Amino acid sequence: MTLEQIAIVQNTFAQIRPVAEAAAGLFYTRLFTLDASLRSLFKGNMQQQGVVLMRTLALAIDSLHCPDALLPTLQALGQRHAGYGVRAEHYETVGAALLWTLEQALAEQWTAETCAAWSAVYTLLASAMQTAPEAELATASPVCASAI
Ligand code: HEM
Repeated sequence: MTLEQIAIVQNTFAQIRPVAEAAAGLFYTRLFTLDASLRSLFKGNMQQQGVVLMRTLALAIDSLHCPDALLPTLQALGQRHAGYGVRAEHYETVGAALLWTLEQALAEQWTAETCAAWSAVYTLLASAMQTAPEAELATASPVCASAI
């Protein structure tokens, strides 16, 4: 992600924060329109789920200048998602629903640059969530061994 893209995402998300609850509602409606089978993965209260999703997105977006610090949190979140039954292809559907929601919420501010910036941030989060912490350890071990 470029610094300009980080600025675009942080500025546009700041505008969504006051209407986060409505945006989350719109997001889940769109998600279940795209793939109704995903509904059964969600067991809890959807309003509360929307609040938690927005809070997590806010935390991630606030930390975009140092994404490495977020990696362990995102990996753990991704592992919990595997336990909820979330598979790789679901990340694509969620990404599509998220971009669509942002387009509705940002209206004329939704430009090609804004779309590219949000697409980059979502790819970053989704990739980190799908990276197993074990993979990091496995690649780190030989380096440690040769350094001794
Ligand atoms: C950037 C991507 C995502 C973020 C930031 C995110 C965030 C969260 C958070 C914070 C929770 C609360 C539970 C926890 O912390 O473990 C959660 C739960 C959940 N998420 Fe996600 N999520 C993402 C992607 C997805 C995707 C791709 C799916 C697939 C449909 C999904 C489905 C679920 C489900 C089923 C739950 C459990 C809800 C329940 O038990 O009622 N999430 N998500």
